[in-house]
Amino acid sequence: MARILVLNGVNLNLLGTREPEIYGPMKLSEMMDNLREQAQGHEVVDIQSNYEGCLVEAIQEAKKDGYDYIILNAGAWTHYSIAIRDAISAVDVPVIEVHLSNIQKRENFRHNSVLSAVVEGQIAGFGLYSYKMALFYIIEKLAQNKIGL
Ligand code: DQA
Repeated sequence: MARILVLNGVNLNLLGTREPEIYGPMKLSEMMDNLREQAQGHEVVDIQSNYEGCLVEAIQEAKKDGYDYIILNAGAWTHYSIAIRDAISAVDVPVIEVHLSNIQKRENFRHNSVLSAVVEGQIAGFGLYSYKMALFYIIEKLAQNKIGL
């Protein structure tokens, strides 16, 4: 069974009440429970923090903690955190960047992700489905690697 770490960054603890017309009505805990239900027996651990260093440390320690993949919604840090980018580059655990909203459709300052160049891929604009798509991809990919496809 795979171990998958879901990291949610700054302000994502406010989901449910934060701009529901953009981010939807679900709380983060409901989203993460829903994601776990789709995990087909794989382990999904989620961490949310408003402190950049917490996310940096979680990324740094992901290998030692036995994670196979990281799903990362860095929130606003996406657009300027070189520290998170460097942590991703420094560790040997693949990362999928996700966003609830379509950042390309929003303000100009959200169009650029400083993380995109160091992640395996980015999924944005599908609400909770952005996370689910990442999870399904990871499950398929790990299964294929195991049977050598
Ligand atoms: C977000 C998009 C970011 O621009 C924003 O700062 C967030 C959430 C998203 O999931 O759509 O906090 O990452």
